Amino acid sequence: MKTELDKIAKDTNLFLKKFLNQQNNSKLIPAMNYGLFPGGKKIRSKVLIDIGSLLSIDYKTLIAIGAAVECIHAYSLIHDDLPCMDNDKIRRGKPSTHIKFGESTAVLAGNSLLTMAFEILASPTLKISEKIKINLIKKLSECSGHLGIAGGQYLDLSYEKKKISKNKIIEMEIKKTGKLFSFCCAVPAIIKKKNIREIKFFENMGSDIGLLFQIADDLIDFKGSSKIAGKKTGKDQKKGKATLISLLGYMNAIKYCDMIILKINKNLKKYGSNSKNIERDIELYFT
Ligand code: IPE
Ligand code: IPE
Ligand code: MG
Ligand code: MG
Ligand code: MG
Repeated sequence: MKTELDKIAKDTNLFLKKFLNQQNNSKLIPAMNYGLFPGGKKIRSKVLIDIGSLLSIDYKTLIAIGAAVECIHAYSLIHDDLPCMDNDKIRRGKPSTHIKFGESTAVLAGNSLLTMAFEILASPTLKISEKIKINLIKKLSECSGHLGIAGGQYLDLSYEKKKISKNKIIEMEIKKTGKLFSFCCAVPAIIKKKNIREIKFFENMGSDIGLLFQIADDLIDFKGSSKIAGKKTGKDQKKGKATLISLLGYMNAIKYCDMIILKINKNLKKYGSNSKNIERDIELYFT
């Protein structure tokens, strides 16, 4: 399991390095590289590849799309750590991008990674039809903007130190984190030109997987070791972040996770034993 994830991480990084090497040089490249490499776990790419293999999509295509997703993810982390957001100085076991390069460079490197994701999807190296590319670009834009990551991050910050309802917390977590997983799960169905109902089915499953992943991240913040996480822990409580843990307590948050896992597994049953990989991915969040 871990070796599969390592292989995906290696292949994604290789793709990204090659793509960056083909870009004309600029002063922002070092900060972009710093935010991307050595990079994190590549869980989003793994989910994309596992759902992709359910629908028999070519591995190379999935790695390229996963690389685009990882650019957006890296941008979101660079911005998330800025003083105007979570104000965190350590990320992936090293100083955050703005600590190393300064705030304005971090903002601009983040912007450049966000737009590079769309450049990857539009590039001729991605061997899929232009019509499908446009559908993917549209979906990824929706998942990244005000209805996705950016909108969720806005809610996350505006909920600090306030009593927020369970449904509102869930909506915020789905936007800031779930939507990018939604995109990953919808990609194979979009490539296979499935109907809207089936695409929606995968999108919803992605939201659940992403929500679960964010709650796992919140649990790690609450109880995990900063050495293993590669970032400071115990920070959500200090900042008064609205999470299911702050609202319901640690044990109830875990119970809620169990419920989501049951729901995801029930949906995956439709795809029979092939879906075992995704079930194991989900277990991975909690180990
Ligand atoms: C951290 O994401 C931020 C969240 C959305 C929970 P990851 O845990 O995937 O971060 P990396 O990429 O492995 O560093
Ligand atoms: C980040 O959530 C979600 C993003 C979209 C970047 P967190 O703020 O909890 O992520 P960490 O704990 O800093 O990695
Ligand atoms: Mg945050
Ligand atoms: Mg943060
Ligand atoms: Mg966190």
